[in-house]
Amino acid sequence: MADALRIGIAGLGTVGAATIRILANAANELAGRAGRPIVVTAVSARDRAKDRGIDLSGMVWYDDPVEMACRHDIDIVVELMGGSEGTARAMVEAALDHGTAVVTANKALLAKHGPDLARRAESHGTTIAFEAAAAGGIPVIKALREALVGNNIRRVSGILNGTCNYILSRMEAEGLDFQQCLKAAQELGYAEADPTFDIEGYDTAHKLALLTALAFGTEVDGDAVYVEGISGVTPLDLEMAEELGFRIKLLGVAERTGAGIEQRVHPTMVSRSSQLAGVMGVTNAVAIDADPVGTITLVGPGAGGGATASAVVGDIVDLARGNRVATFGRPSNELDKPIRAPMQRHEGGYYIRLQVMDRPGAAAIIATRMAERGISLESILQKGRDARRTANGSVPVILITYATTELLIRNAVAAIAEDGVLDGPPQVIRIER
Ligand code: NAP
Ligand code: HSE
Repeated sequence: MADALRIGIAGLGTVGAATIRILANAANELAGRAGRPIVVTAVSARDRAKDRGIDLSGMVWYDDPVEMACRHDIDIVVELMGGSEGTARAMVEAALDHGTAVVTANKALLAKHGPDLARRAESHGTTIAFEAAAAGGIPVIKALREALVGNNIRRVSGILNGTCNYILSRMEAEGLDFQQCLKAAQELGYAEADPTFDIEGYDTAHKLALLTALAFGTEVDGDAVYVEGISGVTPLDLEMAEELGFRIKLLGVAERTGAGIEQRVHPTMVSRSSQLAGVMGVTNAVAIDADPVGTITLVGPGAGGGATASAVVGDIVDLARGNRVATFGRPSNELDKPIRAPMQRHEGGYYIRLQVMDRPGAAAIIATRMAERGISLESILQKGRDARRTANGSVPVILITYATTELLIRNAVAAIAEDGVLDGPPQVIRIER
């Protein structure tokens, strides 16, 4: 058998500890599959004294991950600390500059610095593997970069954040409040160190940016993603969604359009009979629409130690076998510059919830502002007028539109607000049919 592959892991939290557990518990099987033993020889984290429930004996401890990354007796550096700047970035750059391959789960880092890091890796004859950076345990990076390489991909979309899907699922099924569900997701190890990244949609945006680059052969363009999170989704929206035959999911969608590549992340009304509506809890799903294969949907656990470590170990074994693919599927200088499709041009149906003053003429004003812009209404719903009337004398009114553009919807809602018939900010949720 070949010499052992020596691994240095920085970050021993949810994912790092689970990775060490797999490498220890399945050492013999993995050595057989990789053709060589895989040995963790060095580790780094902030607090040396912390009990992590893992055996670190025989591993050299580094207080400074960057120092560890510069060692010549480490073959692969695994970055599991997180963050797009600071130590994580410095460590990954140091490893690549030494020609050492990097495995990371850090989508924030890659969404921001992916093009630069890929060029750095290439110029030092090495690579970055990042299966764990998108959709947790689902092998979607490998699917896009390798298995589907013979296809022309038109669209990639799905549920890419386990924390948000877990929160929305529990709020809907159990009537729990948002903060309660978020706290549970944190305790289960699903959430980012700063959960704002999850609930405000940035984590989904980071993952989507990576999938977009792989799907369309473009440079990662994290800044191009239109982002809305789930913190504004209310129990009333969940209730109305159910009544109207929808379920609310935080979706990431990347699509080639006539105007360029559209990348968007936002809460979405999906039909209750659709495959995505049935994806509950921490589970993620990615639908890839490609020619000639058709549509492929990958479903699986999207967050958590075991699921994510599964992807990390997959990358380590790939590298141990000598499989090296360009970071984003082709050499950096052959990646296209992405053309951004503006969100204003997005076309689709909309759910609009307005808190309307309950007085004669208000409904007519709303209908007029929509009609002026050629927006057709599929339905207008006003449920439980007396029960839901606020002390201010306003009631919720739900509009469902036929397909129109983002620009027209935004203009219409702004005009309605200027008419003085609203008592609170409007809620706008896009519909995917
Ligand atoms: P975590 O539980 O917060 O663990 C982070 C680890 O990094 C801790 O061990 C921490 O040390 C260490 N660390 C942080 N800053 C450090 C520094 N400056 N120097 C040395 N060590 C440092 O995070 P996680 O959930 O495992 O996530 C790690 C990465 O995986 C992130 O990029 C995250 O986005 C990604 N990811 C996570 C999941 C998931 O389900 N959790 C899924 C996919 C991807 P101490 O323990 O000593 O504080
Ligand atoms: N916080 C992320 C999520 C971890 O909830 O999906 C997996 O990337």
